[in-house]
Amino acid sequence: MNPLNQDQNLEVLLQENRRFLPPSSFQKSANLHDFEIYEKAANDPETFWAGWARKLDWMQPWKKVLEWKPPHAKWFVDGKINASVNCVDRHVFQDAGPNAKRNKAAIIWEGEPGDTRTLTYFDLYREVNQFANVLRKLGVKKGDRVAIYMPLVPELMVACLGCARIGAVHSVVFGGFSAEALRDRIQDAEAKVLITADFGWRRGQKISLKKMADQALAETPTIQHVIVVERERGHSTLHNEGHFKEGRDHWWHELMAQSPAYAEPEETDAEDMLFILYTSGTTGKPKGIVHTTGGYLTGVYATTQWVFDLKDQDVYWCTADIGWITGHSYVIYGPLSNGATVFIYEGAPDYPDKDRFWKLIEKYGVSVFYTAPTAIRTFMKWGVDWTKRADLSSLRLLGSVGEPINPEAWMWYHEHIGGKRCPVVDTWWQTETGSIMITPLPGITTTKPGSATVAFPGISAEVLNEKGERVENGGGYVAITKPWPSMLRTLYKDDARYVKTYWSKWGKDIYFAGDGARRDDDGYFWFMGRVDDVMNVAGHRIGTMEVESAIVDHPSVAESAVVGKNHEIKGQAIIAFVTLKEGFTPSEDLVKEIKNHVVKKIGSLARPEDILFSADLPKTRSGKIMRRLLRDIAEGKALGDTTTLADPAVIQRLKAQYEESEGG
Ligand code: WT7
Repeated sequence: MNPLNQDQNLEVLLQENRRFLPPSSFQKSANLHDFEIYEKAANDPETFWAGWARKLDWMQPWKKVLEWKPPHAKWFVDGKINASVNCVDRHVFQDAGPNAKRNKAAIIWEGEPGDTRTLTYFDLYREVNQFANVLRKLGVKKGDRVAIYMPLVPELMVACLGCARIGAVHSVVFGGFSAEALRDRIQDAEAKVLITADFGWRRGQKISLKKMADQALAETPTIQHVIVVERERGHSTLHNEGHFKEGRDHWWHELMAQSPAYAEPEETDAEDMLFILYTSGTTGKPKGIVHTTGGYLTGVYATTQWVFDLKDQDVYWCTADIGWITGHSYVIYGPLSNGATVFIYEGAPDYPDKDRFWKLIEKYGVSVFYTAPTAIRTFMKWGVDWTKRADLSSLRLLGSVGEPINPEAWMWYHEHIGGKRCPVVDTWWQTETGSIMITPLPGITTTKPGSATVAFPGISAEVLNEKGERVENGGGYVAITKPWPSMLRTLYKDDARYVKTYWSKWGKDIYFAGDGARRDDDGYFWFMGRVDDVMNVAGHRIGTMEVESAIVDHPSVAESAVVGKNHEIKGQAIIAFVTLKEGFTPSEDLVKEIKNHVVKKIGSLARPEDILFSADLPKTRSGKIMRRLLRDIAEGKALGDTTTLADPAVIQRLKAQYEESEGG
């Protein structure tokens, strides 16, 4: 996609004249009211970030803040720091006042059926220690990879922190991914242990994670042990169903019961890997984003404190699953390093009714709420009557993340959820950036509905044109021009792809984000979506090539081209153009079969919305499929430039065929 072509979108956005100043009551008590911070940080970002890093607990101080050999960065060189100590121990033992947070709720959890659990910081401390010992006893050592495939239960957070405590590297795979997707990620990371659960709840259905995992485990020779959480204690049917392999599989609660209460934390280096998280790129193969310890923790700690304005008495709820970066940074490491109370909910927003989220906010007194535009648009569609069934007056700040938020959704969120009194922070960032990059600061930034506003202090973000020149007026590519502490360090086992994907468009010292944006007269960023072959479907990042490889894997398919089409609720929907092999004929059954094949290969999040059969696909003379034209067709737009096509008749036929199928 060429961002310069998105004029329609832009016009709408630029007509957006509404402005929202931080409410004065909010401003007074905000964690930050110093406007000058932007300039101070920009003048000396290293000192700015070192100031934040110093607020964490280090086992050994660093010798140098930054070592930048583009495009490879080391932050807090030679410093030693343990992430679990910063998220747990220091709130139990060292913080201001004698044991100030020892008995404070760290995690408040509600399962979809309504079961609940609260872990105080001391409870969490004990569980993390015990789990760290469990891992050590199973032979997990510093640097070993541990795969995690779980529903949203407190044990998932304990598992991550337990890994961090012993310096093991976690690789969380979202529970919505298929067995094959899990297998590929385990294989790439060469994980030694898998942590899963017998099942989780989703919309009243049991999702049998362990059974899915067993399919993956048939082809993951590196896995030596599997730890299984029993979702409802004493009720598991895994043994009877032949899904519990003696010697390899262990019950979480049995291992924990035998585990000593204290585990010495590993002295991890600032640059030791904390986790790998796989995300989609422009090829069929997911990228293993590598985050390290000291810089990452510094980034999430700082942004959580300033963007969400967290206070000791807040109840903070980020609705993201921990399988995504938002869950890593803003469910686990950011809020817990700040000693916050984190609320988590396992299930669907419409179970048993469409007011479940609002009931939860009322029941737990949630004060800071962070969710995605796709969810907000869904709530809009359900209607305000549902929001009125609960008391939302505990809320004081709202956040948005995952895709551009359209002004109508922003306004609806502000009015109907925030009661017009809560600042809305639209936060732009990525799996790769580790922490929030472009965002309002709620006590000082005037917001405009639909704009993520400006870069966080200490972050240098720009919009550049093809040549790398700064764009003042008009669309361009989002770039980060200086290294930042929570940046990805490399792609796991593929540094060449790291350099090529992110640091080659303009040179080795400028980060190419893959997003298009425009800046307005105030320098505010207006994001316009991806400029590469990456889709954003309901806030989930999926590569067009990934879906294409899944489709061509089906025996009937010769070739396929996938595009993301604008979608009212999901942001984008997946549309696949498919050419069948000789001897196969298009049919409704085949459509279903191919869709299910994609679900099997990737997961239901990648299920195509529509499949269109076509004898040919539009290609350039060099054989490259022109997805841009297919997108025009899928969106019912006039076709863009077709002069580079080898056979322009193909696209005309396709367009006619598509219009016919839409109309009929
Ligand atoms: C892509 C990153 C890290 C957040 C969860 C998604 C899009 C994310 C915004 C926003 C406009 C946004 C971008 C980005 N995106 N937040 N506030 N405004 N676009 O993480 O899966 O790594 O996806 O999500 O396109 O590149 P991710």
